[in-house]
Amino acid sequence: MKTVADSGATGSNRWPKLGLCVLCGLPAAGKSTFARALALRLRREQGWATGVLSYDDVLPPAFPDSAGTQPRSSQWKMFRQELLKHLECFLMALISGAQMSAPPNKTEAVWEDFITCFKKQDLIFATAPEAQPCHFLAKPAVSRPLFLVLDDNFYYQSMRYEVYQLARKYSLGFCQLFLDCPLETCLQRNSERLQPLPNETILLMERKMEKPNPEKNAWEHNSLVIQSSACSLEASPEVTDLMLTALENPIKCVEDNTEQKETDRITCSTNILHKADETLRRTVSQTMKEAKDRQMPLNDLKRLAEELNKLKADFLEDLRQGNRKHLCVQPTTDLPDVISSFCEKRDAIVQMYISQQH
Ligand SMILES: *[C@@H]1O[C@H](CO)[C@@H](O)[C@H](O)[C@H]1NC(C)=O
Ligand SMILES: *[C@@H]1O[C@H](CO)[C@@H](O)[C@H](O)[C@H]1NC(C)=O
Repeated sequence: MKTVADSGATGSNRWPKLGLCVLCGLPAAGKSTFARALALRLRREQGWATGVLSYDDVLPPAFPDSAGTQPRSSQWKMFRQELLKHLECFLMALISGAQMSAPPNKTEAVWEDFITCFKKQDLIFATAPEAQPCHFLAKPAVSRPLFLVLDDNFYYQSMRYEVYQLARKYSLGFCQLFLDCPLETCLQRNSERLQPLPNETILLMERKMEKPNPEKNAWEHNSLVIQSSACSLEASPEVTDLMLTALENPIKCVEDNTEQKETDRITCSTNILHKADETLRRTVSQTMKEAKDRQMPLNDLKRLAEELNKLKADFLEDLRQGNRKHLCVQPTTDLPDVISSFCEKRDAIVQMYISQQH
C-alpha cells in the first residue's frame, strides 16, 4: 500500500493538484469577503475546486483579555495549531484516497466546526452521522485542482510559516495574499460590526504586523499585496497567475536528513547566534524603554527586565542546542522565526504586567 509520505514525495506528478493560500491582513480588512469572491471566481473561471477556511468561523471567538490589548491568547494559538492538524487530516485523506478520520486528540467544537465548514463547501460528506461518523471526500475535491484559502490575520510570519511547513510536508502549492487596508478603514468597519474588537487590539496588531517579505524570506516568494480600499475588492489577474504558479510548482519535500541537520546546527551556532544575541538584546531594551514610557512602577520594571533577560537567555541557549526545547512554534534556526517567537512570548509577559496595572 502506498503511504501518505510516498504520495507526498511524488507530489509534483500527483493529480489532482493541491494548493494552500494564506490570506492575511488586519481584522476588518475585508479578508472573508475577498476570500469568498476569490473562491467563486476560481471555481468559475479555472474550474478548480476551492475551499475557504475562515478561522473566525471555525475557532471560538478570541476574546481579548481584560486590558483589551492582547490580540490572541496562547489558547488561541493552540486552537490555530489544532486547526492545522485537522486540515492535515483532510489533506492526508485526499492524498491517500482514504476516508477522513478524526484525530484522537481534539477539541470537539473545533473539529465539528471544521467539518461543518468543509461540508458546506461540498468538500466532504458524511454517512451514518448518528453512528461513528465517517467523513468522505466529495467528488469535486478529488477530481480537479483544489485550492484552499486560509483566512486569518496571520500577523506574525511564524504563523504563516506553520502553513508553509504543512504545504512542504505534502508537496503542495503555496502562496500568500496580504490584504492591505488603511488602518482607519479597518477601525471604521470593525466598529460597525456586531461584535467589534477593541480598537486597541487592531492598533496593536497593526504595529506587530509582519507583512510577507519575499525579498528576505525565500519561502515567502509566492506572495502578493492586494490594495483593499472600500470600493475595490475585485480580484486581479495577478492573483490567478500567482495561484497557477503555486499549483504548477509545488514545494519540494525536504528529506529528513540528520546529517544535514547537524551541519545546520553547527553553522547556526557560529553565525546566527551572534546575530540573535544582538537582536534580542535590542528587542529587550526597546521593550524596557516602552515600559518606562508607560510609567510602569519601578518594582515591576525591575522584575520585567529580569524576566525578559531570562527569556532571552533561554532562547539563546535553545538556539545553541539546535532548538531542541522548541521555544519557537516549530524547531527552527531561522533567525526571523526565532525573533518573532521571542516577541510573542515577550508580549505575553509584558501583557501580564500591564493587566496588573489596571
Ligand atoms: C493531546 O493532548 C495533549 C494535551 O492537550 C497534548 O499534550 C498532546 O500533545 C496531544 N497529542 C496529540 C497527538 O495531539
Ligand atoms: C474605534 O475607531 C473608530 C474609527 O476611528 C471610531 O469610529 C470608533 O468610535 C472607535 N471605537 C471606540 C470604542 O473607541
